[in-house]
Amino acid sequence: MLKFSLTAGLVKQMNRKIMPIENFCGEIKIPGDKSVSHRGVMLAALGDKPVRITNFLPGADCLSTAAAMKAAGAKVEFDGTTSLIVTGNGFNGLKEPTNVIDAGNSGTTLRLLMGLFAAQNFFVAFAGDESLTKRPMARVIKPLSAMGAKIFARANNKFLPVAITPPGQKLRGITYESPVASAQVKSAILLAGLFAEGKTTIVEPYRSRDHTERMLASCGVKTEQSGNSISVTPPVADEFSPPDLIEVPGDISSAAYWLVAASIIKGSHVTLKNVGINPTRTGIIDVLNNMGANINIKNRRTSGGEIMADIETTTAKLRGATFGGDMIPRLIDEIPIIAAAALFAEGETVIKDAGELRVKETDRIKAITDEFNKISPGAVKSEGDTLIIQGNLPKAFAKVKSFGDHRMAMSLAVAAAAAKGAEIEDADCVNISYPEFYETIINERTIIQ
Ligand code: S3P
Repeated sequence: MLKFSLTAGLVKQMNRKIMPIENFCGEIKIPGDKSVSHRGVMLAALGDKPVRITNFLPGADCLSTAAAMKAAGAKVEFDGTTSLIVTGNGFNGLKEPTNVIDAGNSGTTLRLLMGLFAAQNFFVAFAGDESLTKRPMARVIKPLSAMGAKIFARANNKFLPVAITPPGQKLRGITYESPVASAQVKSAILLAGLFAEGKTTIVEPYRSRDHTERMLASCGVKTEQSGNSISVTPPVADEFSPPDLIEVPGDISSAAYWLVAASIIKGSHVTLKNVGINPTRTGIIDVLNNMGANINIKNRRTSGGEIMADIETTTAKLRGATFGGDMIPRLIDEIPIIAAAALFAEGETVIKDAGELRVKETDRIKAITDEFNKISPGAVKSEGDTLIIQGNLPKAFAKVKSFGDHRMAMSLAVAAAAAKGAEIEDADCVNISYPEFYETIINERTIIQ
């Protein structure tokens, strides 16, 4: 088993050669959900007793959050695998970090902690890697400032580095209409709202993933959801009580690679264990079903407000699909792997309203267009926020770039494995969310070349 530490250091920038495979078969235990792992550590650190987090994702992003909460005074005991015990100093017990918080590659660490820390009576500064310095922060700085937070950031409060000074008084609860459907923006505001005077409400254009609100409810916090609006009422300090155990479901965004691999690689049959199937995350299943995939969901169960199940998939004859609008936040991280599936589908796939992809770890609209066209020449076109993918065109061996984006690397690997193979540049960025990705693709496959 791989072992990890809270100070992971530099991720190596290695190339990987992926060979074509067939008969992708086996049972795969899906690693912990990235979003739930982040929130588990943050909320556990606001309690005053040990919280055991099982199936924690030891990817670099979640380790950035664990290290940040440790820097803010929580005790974080990590066994180097997937079990974490976090003990906070109580609801008002966060401490001023003595150094800059390095969010690494993680937008979730940075944006959610800006919300949580902006409400505290201390100074904090954030840094991150090159990709994170290019990602928009005004979307959280604006609403947090409207609550009374004092946040300063580069380029007129738009980009890292970010510094937050003590607000001098309690933040004010606000009603905020977010122009983007973003769980990171929503969660930053909800976390700040926990410590504000009065109720805080966020209205989104479409509903984004709701892990924060579910976990807040499991800590005894009053939240009210109605349509695309969610409110939080600040708890009295001793009402806030995280559960003793947070069981992190398997990440459907990681399971997505194997749902698609099994669908497009002939002779495949996989069972994915313990996958989170929160309805705000299952757009990938809906779209693959529309495309003709064979997906069978079994053994549904609930833990800590999150639903999980086992998912069985076998090879299918896929056809193209068109989707956009409110579907996009339900599969925002799965668009690169859906694009891979579309390369192997009969007809055209059209993905609309995907503009948020331009501000992910890399510009994913550009990366999908440029790099998938190397695997299936002429297959992908982009027009503004729309991707148009022609399926079943001839494939080629290609040297492709991940641009240091974990989801691009994994999606290119699956497409290459189903096509003629590829060499992926900067392939080890999969450590951000799925350190065992290559081990899994190798163990489960039958090599034919
Ligand atoms: C996340 C929300 C999504 C997603 C990211 C994780 C979260 O971002 O892309 O990987 O944990 O809240 P946005 O909500 O900003 O789209």
